[in-house]
Amino acid sequence: MYAPSGQMTAAKPPVGENEIVLRTGEFPTTVVVGKGLLFRISDFTGKTEAPFVVADEITGPLFADFLEQRKGLFTLPRGEEGKSLPRVSAIYSALAKSQVDRSGIILALGGGVVGDAAGFAAATWMRGIRLLQCPTTLLAQVDSAIGGKTGVNLPEGKNLVGAFHPAEWVFSDVECLRSQEEEDFRQGLAEAVKYGIGENWNFLSWLEENAGPILRRECCVLLRLVSECSRMKLAVVSEDEREQSGSRARLNLGHTVGHALEAVSGYKRWKHGDAVAAGMMVAARLAARLGELGEEECLRIGRILSRFSLPTGPDRPWEDILPFLARDKKFTGGVPSLVIPRKNTSCTLRSDIPLPLLRETYEESL
Ligand code: GLY
Repeated sequence: MYAPSGQMTAAKPPVGENEIVLRTGEFPTTVVVGKGLLFRISDFTGKTEAPFVVADEITGPLFADFLEQRKGLFTLPRGEEGKSLPRVSAIYSALAKSQVDRSGIILALGGGVVGDAAGFAAATWMRGIRLLQCPTTLLAQVDSAIGGKTGVNLPEGKNLVGAFHPAEWVFSDVECLRSQEEEDFRQGLAEAVKYGIGENWNFLSWLEENAGPILRRECCVLLRLVSECSRMKLAVVSEDEREQSGSRARLNLGHTVGHALEAVSGYKRWKHGDAVAAGMMVAARLAARLGELGEEECLRIGRILSRFSLPTGPDRPWEDILPFLARDKKFTGGVPSLVIPRKNTSCTLRSDIPLPLLRETYEESL
């Protein structure tokens, strides 16, 4: 379970100690990675209006009191249930009650669900107000809190309603990760491996060399892990914020098969990172068949996933996942668009891969 460690209650360290401040190009978000950040946000933002905090049942009681000030607190239920239009409507009512106007700020304190729902409320309340993200899970720190994607699920499907609304600041406090449940921490590790295979193979080597300290959640490696992933995510989204040029699509490595596995299990048995790990293994084997990766890279990918206790293949027959694959936004005219890793360079989006080849590779990965 989450629990604040002793360090979070320690005296304020001076600004600049043990923290990394990242900003890229024109992208409007500054990411701060550090420890003990939650209780000194104004050291970075300057004197500003007290934010309205959106948290969940765990992060509210654990972390909200570390924040210097707040205008109100709204608590979402845990899990995907928190990411719905009725919940966002309840956030709007709480914002009205707390008299949050166009100069107001929403602060999202939690994992991906909180970030998405609170971010969507910020994008739409009074046609858009300022947003701060304080991601408390590894998955949110390395991926979902950065890049401006916000949204909610509908009964008809996941993330069908949303908006791009980048946070002004993302405060990633690695102290929050030290007591995250192992299963949840692992989901973020899958996204970290994705940056290694998809963006920078040197980073994959760093993950391999530091797997032990990462799994022990040593503070200095967590700082490096989160800051390197944040740097790569910022670089990609600043190149292609709206996912138009194809650069941002690279972040979907492993996600086409991964989303299908999540969907076929009713978003229960397969968690996001686990499903992406299985999907990355299929993508790696496909890359080997296309001559983009060698057998050695496939083995390497399998080894690091196993080291992080992540799955190395799917468990559902092809026939079960095909209907969900076909619903993928990137599946046109019966041909999938798939992100394919390449040796020693960044991955690439390809739309020339015949479905039978994907099927054969998927079945070989079972
Ligand atoms: N998580 C993928 C993206 O932000 O585009």
